[in-house]
Amino acid sequence: MKCLELFAGIGGFAASFPSLKIVRSVDIDASAARVHQANFKHPFDVREIAALSVEWFRTQDADAWWMSPPCTPFSRRGSFQDLNDTRSQALLHLIDIVCELKPAIVGIENVVGFEDSQVFQTLRAKWSREGYRVETCNFCPTQIGWPNRRPRIYALASLDPLIRLNRFHDYETMRPVKEVLLEEFELPVDESDRDLVWLKEADANQYRTAIDKVDPSDPTAATACFTSSYGKSVIRSGSYLRVGNRFRRFVPREVARLLGFSNEFVLPSDLDMRTLWRLLGNSLSLIAVKHVFRDVFKA
Ligand SMILES: C[S@@+](CC[C@H](N)C(=O)[O-])C[C@H]1O[C@@H](n2cnc3c(N)ncnc32)[C@H](O)[C@@H]1O
Repeated sequence: MKCLELFAGIGGFAASFPSLKIVRSVDIDASAARVHQANFKHPFDVREIAALSVEWFRTQDADAWWMSPPCTPFSRRGSFQDLNDTRSQALLHLIDIVCELKPAIVGIENVVGFEDSQVFQTLRAKWSREGYRVETCNFCPTQIGWPNRRPRIYALASLDPLIRLNRFHDYETMRPVKEVLLEEFELPVDESDRDLVWLKEADANQYRTAIDKVDPSDPTAATACFTSSYGKSVIRSGSYLRVGNRFRRFVPREVARLLGFSNEFVLPSDLDMRTLWRLLGNSLSLIAVKHVFRDVFKA
């Protein structure tokens, strides 16, 4: 199977299925490209997807396409602008290109609510007319005992009706959060980074009831979804770890582990912590993608 990775970011999809042949990855973000290229050998294009022609896609000769388009048009943060949000343009463009080139498989990831959007209704109507079977699955890694909440919609469009998403799982007890934590001596020592990692006392007091706190000694604790504004917004962007009577953010390596990236996944040291948090917050739960698409993306 030859796969094209669209809205590729740092390569959450490529990292989920390392033995899959990725013919090319595309994203508009140069910092994402930096991380991607530090980890994968296949070509990466820093391009605006809405400007790529049908011929460009034909040349890639991929039978499976992966896309994790921006979720802002379908979330509160983007005021649910949906079809009217300019950030939907690239996906609308892809919807038409799929109709023309008919890749055998298309996999999609987005926020919960995407499945009710007008963009998704357009996609479903157009692709169904072209003979695709389109299905969706709402899944969170905590359902299989992984201590990070990241509820998402996964969609599959397939020309072969026998290829299906995996919805089945056994009950599993939660893995302890402390398994992903760095040792204290591995935490950043640089003063500006230290200031970012530790929650300021004034913020801790002001947002006392609103911040999501995780106690490392609680074996059942799960972290909240880490978003691209972790390190920028004090609340609703991810969890804080309790250390004595203080709180700290999860450093990028810990967030990467919570998403399911291996320790070998390179987080380039020339990218600052805020950039890494943003890129990781935009990425995927490899744990969920591997589970839901396990029967779809076979090498
Ligand atoms: C939700 S993130 C997906 C991240 C990716 N799954 C990963 O593992 O890092 C959406 C990505 O789409 C990219 N993007 C948004 N609009 C784009 C466009 N018009 N053309 C190309 N890339 C775009 C963003 O830079 C971002 O990396």
